[in-house]
Amino acid sequence: MKSYHTPVLLTESIVALNIKPRGVYVDCTLGEAGHSFEIFKRLESQGKLISIDQDQSALSYVKEKYSKEIAQGNWIIVKGNFSNLKQICMDMQIEKVDGILMDLGLSSRQLEEEGRGFSYNTPSESLDMRMDTDLGVTADDLLKGLNATELEKLFRLYGEERFAKRIAIQIKKSDIKTVGDLTSLIYRVVPATKRREDSHHPARRVFQALRIAVNDEINALKKGLDEAYELLNSNGRLCVITFHSLEDREVKRFFENKGAKDSQAVQPTPEEIEVNNRSRSAKLRVLEK
Ligand SMILES: C[S@@+](CC[C@H](N)C(=O)[O-])C[C@H]1O[C@@H](n2cnc3c(N)ncnc32)[C@H](O)[C@@H]1O
Repeated sequence: MKSYHTPVLLTESIVALNIKPRGVYVDCTLGEAGHSFEIFKRLESQGKLISIDQDQSALSYVKEKYSKEIAQGNWIIVKGNFSNLKQICMDMQIEKVDGILMDLGLSSRQLEEEGRGFSYNTPSESLDMRMDTDLGVTADDLLKGLNATELEKLFRLYGEERFAKRIAIQIKKSDIKTVGDLTSLIYRVVPATKRREDSHHPARRVFQALRIAVNDEINALKKGLDEAYELLNSNGRLCVITFHSLEDREVKRFFENKGAKDSQAVQPTPEEIEVNNRSRSAKLRVLEK
């Protein structure tokens, strides 16, 4: 299977986890196992790593690529949502862990794999955007099922989109079937001067909003953070990598409520951004219990 993803803030997050070779660790966002494999390599056979992802494609990729390592028995791969972290651990009789990692958002696999509808660069695809394809509601369902006011709210809340109202009204007047239909509509609605001011694709915010809503990302994050903190041993570390301000705000607030003294986020070096442009908005926050 083809690999797509370059892990972000890899060295920084592995150092921050302060891995004990016989400890128990959870990677809540397996992806292509960029972080998981680095954690696993640092464990002795008495140590344990549980890696979770809600996307079957990620799990299949990792199970094939790392079949020999997984056969050793102390790297367990689980399909699930990290909002159910405690239950997932309880099912394995694990009550406490030494470190937890969340590397939020999408993997490059999800952005580039055919048929997922996450990327505004794939015009012919349908607007799916489910990380877990067992989920019932797609982005297309939201566009069809929500009225203009509800869509406007969604684009404002999860995309911080300035032209939310205009975009929502036009969506309800149009027959949006594909990624390309939606990106062209947004291109037409956003004024040319504003498009030129913004270095990002004009559809970026609407796509972000739809993806967050389809996957209920903010609620999953809030519940996941609560459960992660409860699961940690004292002195255990929770490391979270975010990619946009909505996520980062949640994590920062949560960490500060738990008494984090140094709430400064770690950001990628210019060298990392140079080789992996996707890392440019990443922020790593670390909390020790
Ligand atoms: C940025 S990628 C992780 C990449 C990984 N750290 C690596 O280096 O290969 C995020 C992954 O987390 C998964 N994910 C996002 N939210 C999740 C959730 N609430 N529960 C489980 N998995 C989730 C996505 O499906 C995606 O595969």
